[in-house]
Amino acid sequence: MRKKATVVGAGNVGATVAMRLAEKELADVVLLDIIEGVPAGKALDLTEAAPIEKHDAKLTGITGSYSDAKNSDIVIITAGIPRKPGMSRDDLLSTNMGIMSSVTKEIAAVAPDAILIIVSNPLDAMCHVAYETSGFPKNRVIGMAGVLDSARFRAFIAMELNVSVENTHAFVLGGHGDTMVPLPRYSTVAGIPITELMPPEIIEALVDRTRNGGAEIVGLLKTGSAYYAPASAAVEMAEAILKDKKKILPCAACLDGEYGIHDLFIGVPVKLGENGIEEIIEIRLTDDEKVALDHSADAVRQLVEDMKRLT
Ligand code: NAI
Ligand code: 2OP
Repeated sequence: MRKKATVVGAGNVGATVAMRLAEKELADVVLLDIIEGVPAGKALDLTEAAPIEKHDAKLTGITGSYSDAKNSDIVIITAGIPRKPGMSRDDLLSTNMGIMSSVTKEIAAVAPDAILIIVSNPLDAMCHVAYETSGFPKNRVIGMAGVLDSARFRAFIAMELNVSVENTHAFVLGGHGDTMVPLPRYSTVAGIPITELMPPEIIEALVDRTRNGGAEIVGLLKTGSAYYAPASAAVEMAEAILKDKKKILPCAACLDGEYGIHDLFIGVPVKLGENGIEEIIEIRLTDDEKVALDHSADAVRQLVEDMKRLT
């Protein structure tokens, strides 16, 4: 049977996610937004590209009603406002928590067995809202950030060493914010740790660029934030789930004592398959790496506390 994916938010990230899902024929796609006409227009435009792109995925664009999202296998939530120059992801908190809560409530009612991939920012905090509002088990609420941050790190490593991006692997853990934790020791080129290939000061510069990767794009675009790479990252996660690939990717997951962290969504390596998060992988961290992860967890915990004050 054909799989069904609903993408909530038909803006820059959502529309690009819908395009990539369809072009990879991963699922039929329902694109939802609150703006009249936009999801229908984008879905029709993508449908008209299908003969050239050679896919038979069915795309539907809907405003306001969730009935077409019924029994979706997977729901990717990109609804919310993006940041503008000078704003941090955390500045989006109060607006996006309201949007995330209303969207998740609607989705839980029509697609109670779906797996949720959360994209809206501030990412880790929005995962908490989705988890609490949906009442879904932890394995079915997953945040997208680590795949994007790691892809940025991989791109910068490939540019620096003039090697194929396909040779690169990287791990960025922690929250999706200034405290994210790129792990050079676990980042490799053709299996060789980058610590063997580059001096520490170059690695530090690439780590810094990765941490500021979102802001770098915001500074260039001026009217919004990145969407091509974020969409690719969300679709890599969706593909791992829809094809039951058992792929290990860094994702925001609700930890239950892993890494010594309790009841908090934060980026860690997980195995993604048809059940969503099928395993949380605990890698050994040095003392410095653990301190950095704990610091990042503290920043996420602060946002979760801020949300309690806002409600
Ligand atoms: P955008 O402004 O292009 O699109 C957002 C869409 O959400 C708009 O079309 C808007 O009408 C819609 N929307 C707002 N309220 C809604 C509701 N209640 N129901 C349905 N749709 C609603 O923004 P963009 O660039 O697509 O970014 C979306 C979100 O994703 C932002 O919060 C952004 O910060 C976040 N983001 C997160 C990334 C990550 O790594 N986790 C990467 C890139 C973006
Ligand atoms: C990014 O990292 C905006 O969170 C988004 O590009």
